Amino acid sequence: MSDSAHDIGWATKPKDDPSVLALREHLIANNGIKGLDVVSPSDIEQAVTLFRRDGFVVVADVLNNEQTEFLAHGCDQAIAEIIALDNDYGGNRGTHRYSFGGSSLTRSQLHRPEWQMLLDIPVVHRLVAAIFGSEDYSLRAASGDFCLPGAVYYQPLHSDIRDFVDAKQTPFSAFIDPTNAMSIRDLPCPYVCVNFLPQELTPLNGPTRQIPGTQNARQAIPSLKEEPEWMRLSTVCPAPAGGILLRDVRAWHGGTPNLSDATRSIPNLEFYAPWFREPMVPGISYKDYKKLSGHAQKLARFCVADSNEELITGATLHAP
Ligand SMILES: [Fe+2]
Repeated sequence: MSDSAHDIGWATKPKDDPSVLALREHLIANNGIKGLDVVSPSDIEQAVTLFRRDGFVVVADVLNNEQTEFLAHGCDQAIAEIIALDNDYGGNRGTHRYSFGGSSLTRSQLHRPEWQMLLDIPVVHRLVAAIFGSEDYSLRAASGDFCLPGAVYYQPLHSDIRDFVDAKQTPFSAFIDPTNAMSIRDLPCPYVCVNFLPQELTPLNGPTRQIPGTQNARQAIPSLKEEPEWMRLSTVCPAPAGGILLRDVRAWHGGTPNLSDATRSIPNLEFYAPWFREPMVPGISYKDYKKLSGHAQKLARFCVADSNEELITGATLHAP
C-alpha cells in the first residue's frame, strides 16, 4: 500500500495546522534518546546487559532486506483490512492508533505468513533465550501496533502487564501473591516483546517512547498531564529498518505523534518466560501450525487451536 497514493490519516488536524507545524519543529530538534545504543546482532551479551539496565534494547540488522520487505508487505495488507473498517481513523488505541492484535478476531496475526517468518530468526532466539536464561520460553501472541500519519496526540505512558485483577477489568491477568509481599514488578522479566522494524524509526514517525529503568519501578505511572517533557522526548530513534526493539513489557512506554507522510508499524512477537503464563487464546489453526518449522512449533505450542476447532480469522476494531 502506498500511503501517499491513498492519502490516509490526518483526520484530526490538517498537516499545516500551526500546532502541528510547531510540534514538528520541536520533534525534529529534540526528539529521541540522546546517545541511544544500537547493538550489533553479534553482541548478545551487550544487548542483554542493556536490556536488564534499561528495560529495552535496540538491535540492528536482524532481518535482511528481503525479510524486511516481506514483513512490510504483510503489515500493509493487515492495515488495509483494518482501516477499511474505520473511516474516521478513530483507532483502537486512541485516534489513528491501532493494535495489530486488538484488530484481529484471534487477538493475534499468527495466521499470517509474515508474522510466522519471525519465529525462525536465529538471532532473535539467541537474544530471547539469553534474556530468560533458558530456551524453554513460549510464544504468547504475534501482534504489534501501527499508527497512521496524522496521529497528533501522545498515547499515555503504560505497562503491557499488570498484577491480577478480576475478569471484568481484563481476562488476561494472572500474577497474584496472596501475601502481598511481591508484585509482578519484583520478579525477573516475565514477558518480553520483540518489536520488528519494517521501516526505520525517526523523530517524526511515531517512535515508541521508553522510560529507561522503569521495569521494576513501584511508583504510579505519570499521566499525560503529569509527564515531564524529557519523558515525552525519550523515544527510541533513530533506529534502522530491519532492526528490533526488545522490551521488558513492564517498562513504562507509550506511543508518540506520527507527523510523517507514512504509516509506522511495529509488528511483534510476545514471549513468556518458561515459568510464567497468563490466560491465552489460540492464534493459529492446527493445520497451519503443522506447516511451521519444528523450532516455530515449539515456540507456538500454547497458541495452537485444537485439530477439530475452526479458527476464524479476520479484521475487527474490537477484538473479543
Ligand atoms: Fe504498550
